[in-house]
Amino acid sequence: MAITYDSDQRIFHLRAAHCSYVFQIQKNQQLAHLHWGRPLQEPADAASLITIEGRPFSTQLDPEDQGFTTEFMPQEFPAFGSGDFRQPAFEAVWSDGSRVTDLQYQGHEILPGKPQLGGLPAVYVESAAEADTLLVHLADEAGLAVTLQYSVFAEANVITRSVLLRSTAQEPIILDRALSTSVDFTDSDFRLLQLSGAWGRERMVTERSLTQGLQAIESARGASSHQQNPFLALQRSGSDEHQGEVFGFSLVYSGNFLAQVEVDPFLQTRVQLGINPRDFSWQLDPGETLQTPEVVLAFSDQGLNGLSQTYHRLYRTRLARGAFRDEPRPILINNWEATYFDFDEEKILAIARQAQTLGVELFVLDDGWFGQRDDDHTSLGDWFVDTRKLPDGLGGLGTKINQLGMKFGLWFEPEMISPVSELYRKHPDWCIHIPGRRRTLSRNQLTLNLARTEVQDYIIEQISSVLQSAPIEYVKWDMNRHMTEVFNPELPASRQRETGHRYMLGLYRVLEEITSRFPHILFESCSGGGGRFDPGMLHYMPQTWTSDNTDAVERLKIQYGTSVVYPLSSMGAHVSAVPNHQTGRITPMEIRGHVSMFGNFGYELDLTELNAADLECIKQQIAEYKAVRQLVQQGTFIRLLSPFAGNETAWLVVSEDQNDAYVGYYRVLAEPNPRHYKVKLKGLDPHKRYRIEGTQWSLGGDQLMYAGLNIYQIAREIRRRRGDFTSVALRLRAEEGR
Ligand code: DGJ
Repeated sequence: MAITYDSDQRIFHLRAAHCSYVFQIQKNQQLAHLHWGRPLQEPADAASLITIEGRPFSTQLDPEDQGFTTEFMPQEFPAFGSGDFRQPAFEAVWSDGSRVTDLQYQGHEILPGKPQLGGLPAVYVESAAEADTLLVHLADEAGLAVTLQYSVFAEANVITRSVLLRSTAQEPIILDRALSTSVDFTDSDFRLLQLSGAWGRERMVTERSLTQGLQAIESARGASSHQQNPFLALQRSGSDEHQGEVFGFSLVYSGNFLAQVEVDPFLQTRVQLGINPRDFSWQLDPGETLQTPEVVLAFSDQGLNGLSQTYHRLYRTRLARGAFRDEPRPILINNWEATYFDFDEEKILAIARQAQTLGVELFVLDDGWFGQRDDDHTSLGDWFVDTRKLPDGLGGLGTKINQLGMKFGLWFEPEMISPVSELYRKHPDWCIHIPGRRRTLSRNQLTLNLARTEVQDYIIEQISSVLQSAPIEYVKWDMNRHMTEVFNPELPASRQRETGHRYMLGLYRVLEEITSRFPHILFESCSGGGGRFDPGMLHYMPQTWTSDNTDAVERLKIQYGTSVVYPLSSMGAHVSAVPNHQTGRITPMEIRGHVSMFGNFGYELDLTELNAADLECIKQQIAEYKAVRQLVQQGTFIRLLSPFAGNETAWLVVSEDQNDAYVGYYRVLAEPNPRHYKVKLKGLDPHKRYRIEGTQWSLGGDQLMYAGLNIYQIAREIRRRRGDFTSVALRLRAEEGR
């Protein structure tokens, strides 16, 4: 059993594959956190894991025991207002206006498997043997029952946490904060890692050391956002990509979130994640419940790569769902950067015909096929085909693309409405707005109020009828603005701060319904690129458009940062034209291919305008990607050299049996008279020999890892090629019987 309860010491010991998580019921019936990290033998000794002692000025909960205080006690789910002055995990306002909370242990259950969370995305199991679940029931006598849910994975260093809050009061209670997790550490000897950025430079690896006080990231934009990702890691001092302890916190949610770290006066650390309390509250009427989103806690004693690999495996196989979860993802061509809004059927078919000769498998028709949408000012919401551009409709175009031997895919932006649209003329009140106040635009559009059931139903039916009307096998689900004037006229004044979370619950209902109605369709989410690249969306759609920035050099950082949490099988990565549309940079076709091949590969340019040499290069890239596709999409990804650290980037993917590997190496700027570049590979079998395809070299896994891959000797073209932006991708195959 992965979860034990020692009734003598009153401690719970949760054992995931190679880590322990231990907490204890204190004499005041509150839960104190004792340990999370490397596994401890049973029984863990509670008394020596925790120090509870009074300090000058500290609160005293028990007049008989002056040293007993929660003020500095590491806790499991800290309450508010009676002894702990650090950040609480939840806050309740009782009917008399008082706000003190005090959660006391009532009982617990240990269950095989992992129950699903009502209406929210979450990690799942396929058999009860994969995880055990602990439910700890707590109660505040003022009228709140709280169940802490922990699921412990047998084969991964993963513990998921979420919380169910239920009112037992006679009068409504207001929850002003309901975070999903709170974990205390007894020191702060960590570097904090977060994935921060902006549109076009999402998920930049950002690190800082901890200091006394609060350090937080958040989104209050109505989406998880380009600016911050709902993820934090604490890296032990001295750890790096390959060794040392790292603790990960990943929130399975796509809306406003808070991820914060507080260091107290004794340099203890509290980490908390959940729905952003800013602009949130939730009214619980008697008997009602609120389920918080899930946080996936992961532990690695093999550095940041070890942590990433844990998330990759879990999110690829037990967060993503559907027919495409384990299937090879098609190589696609998307017409956005080729045509923007300016296309007709002949133009689309010309690109598709060229794509087919090169081996592309899927054509994706992007924005501009519906209503009167010749630019981004109109038509969102009017999901009927523009026959000026596509006289034979989507059915006609889809059939012609199918006849070329390719699949057909379509772009939508279902959550939005243009003020210039038929939908807006009919339903001006369906957008998020405050009656009588300005409706702030962004990209000339407004957001539909998905907190309203009739709006959800409308989207489900509209999108379903388009998907039924044509042979569509892929959908790109876009979302291109953040929320303002957040208000829901259906709710009373006192409940307005529920709107943001109600929108997310509505969105998840829509996604669940549409993805289960059309199981043969591969869905890719998008939000102006990677503005909603989060585990919540990955539960419904197994891949995401990583960024609108398609520049190969920028993509090194974006994909490197994204890979801290998300698997390669979740990252859309396309070769685009030069000069690059976002940066103006001119890079060779080779590096654009070599970067994109470490993701779900595709193209985003006008193939009819390329010269013969580029077309030949693309043909080879497609053949190469088909050969490595399964390895890239399902292998173990390892970061080797960071683009955040210098001029070189390197990474590789290794198959589970260690017989197959694919290495990407990139040098951004040329150097005169360069040094001897060597990259120490990882993850190979030191006892095997690997043939490096396309070269005369066959080298031991030990040599490749401990002495390094001699880049200039093995990839001679890198040295010969002059100029900036050089790269190579090498396939390594273990030799039979060696
Ligand atoms: C934003 C997306 O990220 C782009 O790829 C493209 O689909 C545009 N929207 C279309 O409006």
